[in-house]
Amino acid sequence: MFLLHALPLYIILLIACHDTSATLLSRVHDIASLHTKNIARDLRLAFRAVLVSQQTQVVPQMRFSYCQIESSGSSDSGASSSKSTTSTKTASAASASATASSYSSPYNLAEYHNGTDFFTGWTFWTTSDPTNGLVDYVNETTGRSNNLVEVNSDGHTIMRVETTGMVSENRQSIRITTESTYNGVLVIMDSVHMPTGCGTWPAWWSNGPNWPDGGEIDIVEGINNYTDNQATLHTESGCSLPSTSADVLNVTGTVVDGTNCAADETSNEGCGFRSASNVSFGAAFNDNGGGVYAMKWDDDGIKVYFWTQDSVPSDIDAGTPVPDRWGTPMANWPSSTCNSTKYFYNHSFIFDTTLCGDWAGNAWNSSGTPGQDQSCATRTGYSNCEDFVRASGASFDEAYWEIKSVKFYELD
Ligand SMILES: *[C@@H]1O[C@H](CO)[C@@H](O)[C@H](O)[C@H]1NC(C)=O
Ligand SMILES: *[C@@H]1O[C@H](CO)[C@@H](O)[C@H](O)[C@H]1NC(C)=O
Ligand SMILES: *[C@@H]1O[C@H](CO)[C@@H](O)[C@H](O)[C@H]1NC(C)=O
Ligand SMILES: *[C@@H]1O[C@H](CO)[C@@H](O)[C@H](O)[C@H]1NC(C)=O
Ligand SMILES: *[C@@H]1O[C@H](CO)[C@@H](O)[C@H](O)[C@H]1NC(C)=O
Ligand SMILES: *[C@@H]1O[C@H](CO)[C@@H](O)[C@H](O)[C@H]1NC(C)=O
Ligand SMILES: *[C@@H]1O[C@H](CO)[C@@H](O)[C@H](O)[C@H]1NC(C)=O
Ligand SMILES: *[C@@H]1O[C@H](CO)[C@@H](O)[C@H](O)[C@H]1NC(C)=O
Repeated sequence: MFLLHALPLYIILLIACHDTSATLLSRVHDIASLHTKNIARDLRLAFRAVLVSQQTQVVPQMRFSYCQIESSGSSDSGASSSKSTTSTKTASAASASATASSYSSPYNLAEYHNGTDFFTGWTFWTTSDPTNGLVDYVNETTGRSNNLVEVNSDGHTIMRVETTGMVSENRQSIRITTESTYNGVLVIMDSVHMPTGCGTWPAWWSNGPNWPDGGEIDIVEGINNYTDNQATLHTESGCSLPSTSADVLNVTGTVVDGTNCAADETSNEGCGFRSASNVSFGAAFNDNGGGVYAMKWDDDGIKVYFWTQDSVPSDIDAGTPVPDRWGTPMANWPSSTCNSTKYFYNHSFIFDTTLCGDWAGNAWNSSGTPGQDQSCATRTGYSNCEDFVRASGASFDEAYWEIKSVKFYELD
C-alpha cells in the first residue's frame, strides 16, 4: 500500500481470535501455523501513533479442521475430499490429490477454499475500514442478503461492492480474513475477475500481529484504472531490497518506491514491485480471463509470481506445485537483506475492496501509471473521489472479485 500523506488519527482494532483445536486425521501433518490466540492487529495504517479504542472479540464457529487424507493407492482424486470423517464441512482439508504422481512437489496442501464451501475458514471484517475508505464492511448474512456475496453456478466466489445509484455516506463492501495463520507458506490464488474502475482499491494480501512488526505482504494491489499489479512489503525497520536492478534481483517486475521496506521510514510506501504484465490487474486482467497469483514465503525470502490463465504451470494445475519449474518471479525479496522469518510471522490472509481512502482517494488526480494515462478526475469529471463514489453506483458494476480458488501449501 502506498500513502501519499501522513494521516491524522487511527483506530487500532484488536481482534482476539479464540483457541482452535484442530482435528488431525490420518498421517498427522504438522501445521505449525495453526492459529491460537493470535492478536491480529490489522494494519495497513501509516504510523503507530494510534489509540486502542475498540476491542472486538471474534468467536468464529469451531468449524475449521485440518486433516491429512491418505491418497496413496487411490486413483480417484474425487474421493479425497469426501473421505473426511469430521462432521463439520470444511473447505480446508486434504492432501494433494491423486494426480500427485505427475510431479514431485515439496509441498502438501494445508488448506483450500473453492466451490460452495469457500467461505468456511474466513472471518468477515465488520468494523470500520482501517484505510479510511468509503465502505461499510458487512458480515456474511448481510452480504448474502444484499447480493454482495455468493458462489455462482460456476462454483466461483463473488465479492461485490454495493451499486445503489446514490448513497449519502459509504457503500457496503466485503473484507474477509483467514482464521488460520502462517509462518511461511505457498499460497496460490486463481481468479477470473477483480474489482476495477475509478475509486476502487482492491487487495489480496496478508499481515501479522503488531503491525508493522509482524510484516505485511501485498500480493495483488492497485487502484482506479491500473492494469499492472503492485506487490509490496511493509515491515519494521531493518528490512530492505539489496538492489533496484531486475537483473540482480532476478525479477520480471520493476522496483517502485525504493528499496527500504520499513513502514515507519517510508511514509508507509514500503518496498514494492510493479508487474511487467499489462494484464496483471484491473480491467485488463478481467478482459484477459484473469490469472493465477502465487506467493512463496520460506527461509530464502518472499517471491510473487503471476500467470495468465493460458500459461499456468501444469504442476499447479495438477495440485502439486514445484516452484523450481516456474522461472523468474515478478517480485523477489531475498532473506539476505530482509530476513523472512524475523520480519514476517503469524500471517492471516485477506481479501478486501475499499473505495477512495488513503490510496485511491489521494491518487484521484494522478496519471502516468499503466492503465491510468488520464487521471480519474479527468475520466469522471469529478474533482474528488468521494463525490464520484457516492453519486455513481453503476460505476461499481465491475468492482467485484470472482475467485476460483485459494490454496495454501506447506513444505513437507
Ligand atoms: C505467533 O503465534 C503463536 C501461536 O499462536 C504464538 O505462540 C506466538 O507468540 C506468536 N508470535 C508472535 C511473535 O506474536
Ligand atoms: C477444490 O480443490 C480441491 C483440492 O485441490 C479439489 O479436490 C476439489 O475438487 C475442488 N473442488 C471444486 C468444487 O473445485
Ligand atoms: C450481521 O449484521 C447485521 C447488520 O449489522 C446484524 O443485524 C446481524 O445481527 C449480523 N449477523 C450476524 C450473524 O452477526
Ligand atoms: C476507468 O474508470 C472509469 C470509471 O470507473 C471507467 O468508466 C473506465 O471505463 C475505466 N477505463 C478503463 C480503460 O478501464
Ligand atoms: C539471482 O540468481 C542467481 C543465479 O541463480 C543467484 O546466484 C542469486 O543469488 C539470485 N539473486 C537473488 C537476489 O535472488
Ligand atoms: C500490453 O503489452 C503488450 C506486449 O506485452 C503490447 O503489445 C500491448 O500493446 C500492451 N497493451 C497496452 C494497453 O499497453
Ligand atoms: C533470520 O532470523 C531468524 C530469527 O530471528 C534467525 O534464526 C535466522 O538465523 C536469521 N536468518 C538469517 C539468514 O539471517
Ligand atoms: C484534485 O484536484 C482538485 C482540483 O484541482 C483539488 O480540489 C483536489 O484537492 C485534488 N485532490 C487531491 C487528492 O489531490
